[in-house]
Amino acid sequence: MSSAAHDGTIESHSLEVETYPPSAEFAEQANVHDSSVYWRAAEDHEAYWASRARDLQWTKPFTEVLDWSNPPFAKWFQDGELNVAANCLDRHIAAGLADRVAIHWEGEPGDTRTITYGELTHEVKRAANMLTALGITQGDRVAIYLPMIPEAVISMLAVARLGATHSVVFGGFSADSLRSRIDDAEAKIVITADGGYRKGRVSQLKPTVDEALALEGNGSPLSVEHVLVVDRCGSEVAMQPRRDLWWHEEISAFDGEHTAKGFPAENPLFILYTSGTTGKPKGILHTSGGYLTQVTATHNDVFDLKPETDVFWCTADVGWVTGHSYIVYGPLANGATQVMYEGTPDTPDWGRWWQLIEKYGVTIFYTAPTAIRACMKVGRQVPEQYDLSSIRLLGSVGEPINPEAWRWYREVIGAGKAPIVDTWWQTETGAIMVAPLPGLTRLKPGSAQVAQPGIDLNVVDEAGNRVDPGQGGLLTIRKPWPAMVRTIWGDDQRFIDTYWEKFGDQYFAGDGARVDKDGDVWLLGRVDDVMNVSGHRLSTTEIESALVEHHAVAEAAVVGADDETTGQAVVSFCVMKSQQELLSADDAEAALKKHVADTIGAIARPRNIYIVSELPKTRSGKIMRRLLKQVAEGKEVGDTTTLADTVAITMIQQQVNTTR
Ligand code: WTA
Repeated sequence: MSSAAHDGTIESHSLEVETYPPSAEFAEQANVHDSSVYWRAAEDHEAYWASRARDLQWTKPFTEVLDWSNPPFAKWFQDGELNVAANCLDRHIAAGLADRVAIHWEGEPGDTRTITYGELTHEVKRAANMLTALGITQGDRVAIYLPMIPEAVISMLAVARLGATHSVVFGGFSADSLRSRIDDAEAKIVITADGGYRKGRVSQLKPTVDEALALEGNGSPLSVEHVLVVDRCGSEVAMQPRRDLWWHEEISAFDGEHTAKGFPAENPLFILYTSGTTGKPKGILHTSGGYLTQVTATHNDVFDLKPETDVFWCTADVGWVTGHSYIVYGPLANGATQVMYEGTPDTPDWGRWWQLIEKYGVTIFYTAPTAIRACMKVGRQVPEQYDLSSIRLLGSVGEPINPEAWRWYREVIGAGKAPIVDTWWQTETGAIMVAPLPGLTRLKPGSAQVAQPGIDLNVVDEAGNRVDPGQGGLLTIRKPWPAMVRTIWGDDQRFIDTYWEKFGDQYFAGDGARVDKDGDVWLLGRVDDVMNVSGHRLSTTEIESALVEHHAVAEAAVVGADDETTGQAVVSFCVMKSQQELLSADDAEAALKKHVADTIGAIARPRNIYIVSELPKTRSGKIMRRLLKQVAEGKEVGDTTTLADTVAITMIQQQVNTTR
């Protein structure tokens, strides 16, 4: 155990865990089976990325790899030209793969569409022709506000094909959020649907677009000229003459002839808004050649993809970066066959995901720890009713996966043998940065483990100096990487201030991390989630992980609440397992406090443990610790607009207030 809080390092206590080497059988067939790739990439990182970039199809080959003459504004492969959509489509058709299934799509009500690469290419070309007729050309922005239906993928690729820029807005965002994103990007077209199916009901989208466009906005004239509406649910919707157009009517005028043009590697591909520490969301800008290079390479390496035989399934929504990189661009550039599902995992019941794995023979499954823990809570008897024997690799993303969930995932979903790749990355990094390579890495539950080849990761103290193994610090990236954020749309200064101000020449990710004595990276949560208790810094993540290790706990959230004596105090909120023989709340609190003290140390013993029935989460499933902190401090709960629902937080607030 270390304790060097006085010099600004993060207190960090390791949870001892077992390791799992790759099986000989897996290692033998793995796409990456020679560990020399790490040092070869480290020796010449530009040469490494150039060789990965050459796996793509360039209409004009690049001669320059990286221009870092004006940091932090990187240019990768800048004199090269390519068409991103043609790399995901036409290239495979030319290779004779037109009949390969690209997408097994499943609607929530059970309707299905099977789309081959030939059909997807045809539809994207038609959509590109339709958008051209509506005036979209290189550099224009198109907002996409769609449910998880094939038209979402088709729209993104059609925009990319024209050298235009998409801004996908997650369907759960409100009219206000949609409007501010439309205004910020000055989108000319919005592509939406009447609605989509969620939890057995139609969740409306077009009325939200109407509301958004009717808002006052930022004072500039409305940029939107047309709204294209996909008829997903057959709902009645109001159509404003001239502005609003039905997708199926417009597209019917176009055939599938369209020749893709090459665009410069640094042509903007998409803007994706992500929340920052201040109110206004940041428009993260990604460009073409570098982004496509890294998502394609990591999708191949980390997921060990065999495009001829694998069926890949990433459960993210296309409205998040995971959907951009590992539903659309990475898998399609690699010619993968994948499953895309419209609805929620609990509709009609919690067996839905497992039923789809059985139905489509999914071999690689990529989801988030929060979903895994929800499934744990329901119990293993549900997945055990399905044949999951096709699974050969599992992935995790979005937050640290606690060892308890890792083991359940491996045992219950992965038949006790599928490697699990815990992938650390961000909207800003564009692609996976830290993850095991499943044919090489000895897996360690709870750790994201190793920087990918060609990624120069560092863990530093507040002064920017590398910390010793075992010490907590701040995660930074030293050398530019191909899929890195290029700027914040329209705000270069904010880009500099947010990510580069702190350490100058190193990208600061905002996450705390620790490298253990084996060189494995442990993510310790956002640094704003790091607590300072009696001068010792503690990670919320580590305490949460300890709590979830307890056999009675399904989910836990930990916050550092202001405390008069200790600076901050550890406050925990726990959801207990449903079929658990429950202790009384008092006994549970005492047992869990002792458990944390036993696992990590007395310093980490929570001041309060509240046993609650649900945790407040965003629509993408992230626990809203900021709100829990406000409740724990007896403050008014602030902005709840990103919550999936506000019931949980209201109940917790009542509970905390009555025990105060
Ligand atoms: C967190 C999602 C630990 C982290 C791809 C990061 C993780 C933020 C992991 C980015 C992981 C993501 N282990 N933490 N495997 N993956 N995070 O932009 O705090 O939605 O900074 O990108 O999620 O979230 P974002």
